[in-house]
Amino acid sequence: MQKYIKTLQPLLSEDEHEKIKKIVEKFAGEGGLGRKLQLYLLARREKLDNWAYEYWLKDLYLNYREPIVINSNPGMVFPPRKFTTILDVARFTARLIDAALSHKDILNRKALPIERATSREPGQPLCMAQYYRILGCCRLPGKVTDSQYVAELPNDNEQASEHVVIVCRNQQYCVPIQAGDRGRLNEDEICAQLLYILDDAPCQSNITPVGILTGWKRALWAEAREDLMRDEKNRRNLELIEKSLLIVCLDEALPASFNCRLQKGGKGFMAGNRDESNLAHQMIHGGGFQFNSANRWFDKTVQLIISGDGACGLCYEHSMAEGVAVIQLIENLWKQAELLPTASEVPSNVGSHLPPPEKLEWFLEATDLKRIEDASQVVDNLVKDLDFQVFRFTGYGKDFMKSCKVSPDVFVQLALQLAYYKLYGKLTATYESASTRRFLLGRVDCIRSATPEALEWVMAMSQPKEETDYDIGNKKVTFHLVSDDRKYELWCEAVKVQTKEMVDNILGHGIDIHLLGLREAAKDTCPTAATPLPELFTDPSYRLANKFLLSTSQVSTSTNSFMGYGPVEPDGYGASYNIKTDHIIFCLSAFWSSEVTSTSRFAQSLEESLNAMQVLLNRPNGT
Ligand code: COA
Repeated sequence: MQKYIKTLQPLLSEDEHEKIKKIVEKFAGEGGLGRKLQLYLLARREKLDNWAYEYWLKDLYLNYREPIVINSNPGMVFPPRKFTTILDVARFTARLIDAALSHKDILNRKALPIERATSREPGQPLCMAQYYRILGCCRLPGKVTDSQYVAELPNDNEQASEHVVIVCRNQQYCVPIQAGDRGRLNEDEICAQLLYILDDAPCQSNITPVGILTGWKRALWAEAREDLMRDEKNRRNLELIEKSLLIVCLDEALPASFNCRLQKGGKGFMAGNRDESNLAHQMIHGGGFQFNSANRWFDKTVQLIISGDGACGLCYEHSMAEGVAVIQLIENLWKQAELLPTASEVPSNVGSHLPPPEKLEWFLEATDLKRIEDASQVVDNLVKDLDFQVFRFTGYGKDFMKSCKVSPDVFVQLALQLAYYKLYGKLTATYESASTRRFLLGRVDCIRSATPEALEWVMAMSQPKEETDYDIGNKKVTFHLVSDDRKYELWCEAVKVQTKEMVDNILGHGIDIHLLGLREAAKDTCPTAATPLPELFTDPSYRLANKFLLSTSQVSTSTNSFMGYGPVEPDGYGASYNIKTDHIIFCLSAFWSSEVTSTSRFAQSLEESLNAMQVLLNRPNGT
C-alpha cells in the first residue's frame, strides 16, 4: 500500500494525495477490510497453482468487450523477402509451415527445454506454459466474457492430426498437413497445396468475408458466431479454423500511399516503396476491409502474414501468451525458412496425388451479411483512426546505455518519461510489462515508471535555459536554472528507483497484480450488488492510477524485426521498443481522433530527450 501511495504522488494534487493516504489507512489499517481480503488471497494461494492468473486473464483480456484488432492484438514486421514469382511465395510459406510442424512435434513430446533467468537471481527456472498455448489455440468470443480454446497435447505414442488454415483473398482453405493414417506432408507437398490456393482464390467470385467478424466488438461477434453455428457447415468451418495449428494469411500489398507520412529517424527496411510504418499497419490490422482486414481471423493466436510483394509478419492474439514467447517461436521458424535458396524449385509432382485443399464455404443468411457490413464499418473506422509510426533512433543503443552503467530498459523508460513531460508538462500513469515467468503460470506485472524521482529529474531536464549577458573571453556563457551536476544527481536517483521498481516486479513484488487480487477478492467475498467495492477502488484516484496514457513494453528480437501495438486509452500512446546494440526501434501509436496526441510529435520529443540524455551523460565526469 505504501508503494501504491507513492505511485500516485506524481499524478495527484497534494489534497488528493492526502485523501488517498486516508483511504489506504482505512482499508489496510487495523480492522480494515483489506486485511480480511488479504487472508482470502492467502487461502486462494493454497488452493490454486497461481492465485492471480484467472483474475488477471479476465481483467486484462477475456472481459474486454471492444474489438481486439488494434486494441489488443500486436503486429510484428519481418525484414521483407524478395519474391520474384508466386512459386517463391508458396515455397517460403511451405517452409514456414513445415518448421511450425517440427516445432509442434517438440511440444507434443513436451520436450521444450526449460528456460532460466539470466540475470537478477540468475538460474531460476521460468514457467513454460505460454509456449504450449501458441500453436493450435484460439480465443473464442462470448457475450459477457470470452474464453480460450487450448489444444490438448496428444498422449504418448499417439500420432496427432494437424491442419493449417490458409486465407487468401478473404477465402479460407483447410490444408491437412499431418494425418494419423498417412503421416506428415513434406515441404513439396505443402508447397503444391499453396500453389493450388494461390491459383484458385483469385478465380472465386462470391467469397463471403466472414473473417472480418473477428474484428468486431466481442459481444456482437459472439452473437453472430452463435447464429453461424446453427448451420452444420458453418459449425465445421469454425471448428477447423479454431483448432488449426495456425493461420497463414496470403495478403495483397497495401498501397504505398496508405497512411503515407514522413518516417522519422533511420529509414530501416522497405518492401518495394512501402516503408516500415506501412508494413506495420498491414500486420496490425490488414489495412481495412478494402485491403486485408477480412483476410484474417483475429481470434487466432498465430496469423502468419505473407504478402506478394515480400512483406512478411505476424498478427497475434494476446490472451494466450506474451510477445516474448511468440517472438521466440516465430523467429525460429523464420530463421529456418530463410535458409531457403533464393531460386525456388518447382515442387516435384509428388504433391499431385493429394486432394486439393478444402475451401471453407459458409451458409449465410441476410442477418449474417448485414453483420459483416457492420463489422467492416467498425474495423474500417478503427483502422482510419490509428496513428502509427515506426521510429528508428540511430543516435545510440544498448552499448552506450551499458557504458553509462545503466540498465538499458531503465534508460528507455526514463527517456519516455522525459518525452512525455516535454509535451504535456506532467507525467502520466505508465505501464511497462514485466515478465513474471519465475512463477508458475506467471505472465506480467506492471512496472510503473512515473515515479516521484523521475518527475524531479524530468522537471530539471526541461528547465528553460537562462542566458546571461556575460562574456568570458570570446565565449558567451549560458547558465541553467538547474546545474548539470544537479540534473545528473537527479538522474542517478531516478535510475536507482526505476531499477528497483523493475527488479521488484520481475521478482514478484509488483503492486498491480496484488491490487487486482484484492479488488477481485472484494467482489468474490461480497457478491451482492448492494455491497459497494471498498473506497480504494471507487475513488477517482484508482481510475487515474490505471489510466495508462503511456502503455509501454520492451519487445526484443534477435533479428531486424519489430513488434508494435495500439494505445490502450483514447488519449494515450502505445510505445514498444526494441533496444539494439547501436540503435532503438520504437513503434509509437495513438489515435487521430484524440486532440492531444500525435506520434510525430512524440517521436520528435523522444529524439530530443534521448539526445539530451546523451549530452548529460557524456559530460566530463558525467558517467
Ligand atoms: N550496467 C551495465 N549493464 C547493465 C546494467 C547496468 N547497470 N543493468 C543491466 N545491464 C545489462 C544486462 O546485463 C543485460 O545485458 P545483456 O544484453 O548482455 O544480457 C542488458 O543490460 C539488458 O538488461 P536490462 O535492460 O536491465 O533488462 P532486461 O533485458 O532484463 O529487461 C525487462 C527488463 C523488464 C524488460 C524484462 O525483465 C522483461 O520482463 N521482459 C518481458 C517484457 C515483456 O513481456 N514484453 C512483451 C510484452 S507483449
